[in-house]
Amino acid sequence: PLVLIAAAILGYLLGSIPFGLVLTRLAGLGDIRAIGSGNIGTTNVLRTGRKDLAAATLVLDALKGTAAVLIAAPWGGEAAIVAGFAAFLGHLFPVWLGFKGGKGVATYLGLLGAFAWPVALFFMVLWVSVAFITRYSSLSALTASLLSPIALLLFGYPREAMLFAVLSAILWIMHRANIGRLLAGTESRIGKKA
Ligand code: G3P
Repeated sequence: PLVLIAAAILGYLLGSIPFGLVLTRLAGLGDIRAIGSGNIGTTNVLRTGRKDLAAATLVLDALKGTAAVLIAAPWGGEAAIVAGFAAFLGHLFPVWLGFKGGKGVATYLGLLGAFAWPVALFFMVLWVSVAFITRYSSLSALTASLLSPIALLLFGYPREAMLFAVLSAILWIMHRANIGRLLAGTESRIGKKA
């Protein structure tokens, strides 16, 4: 129906705003895609040395997912799920960047915040713990996203668990180059500038 199409368009448009690219460009840092891993997300913005821009990228990439869900929620539960899923895909495949976007970690977190905020806290605690121990942003995200669908089940969100299991699988696919580098021992650690 029309409301689901509207939810998909809304979600996609919000999700496809590449905040990391926009903020670094506004700050005069050039094209973030030519730095470090080439990714447009928080971790790579951090490699420019600008913690403030990295923090802003994290918050805005998360909130665009949260916003998509909250705006569509009054249209019904299905619309909220469609909007959230579309926001995630919009971040990964923005038409404005030739469908080459980010890897989805911040937006995943923002969606968790909208659907099941206790599990968003679980995600953040896990991410920070793994990052503190290993200094690998990607490994932290892979771990937190692997366990979040299970946490959703345990916290009493069975419907959401299915949605986030799909999002986690996509997130892992987007991190395939990172996984390769982690296995090869060549992944860059947080705190190292590009
Ligand atoms: O979500 C991004 C992070 O998990 C990895 O980013 O720039 O190291 O590929 P990056």
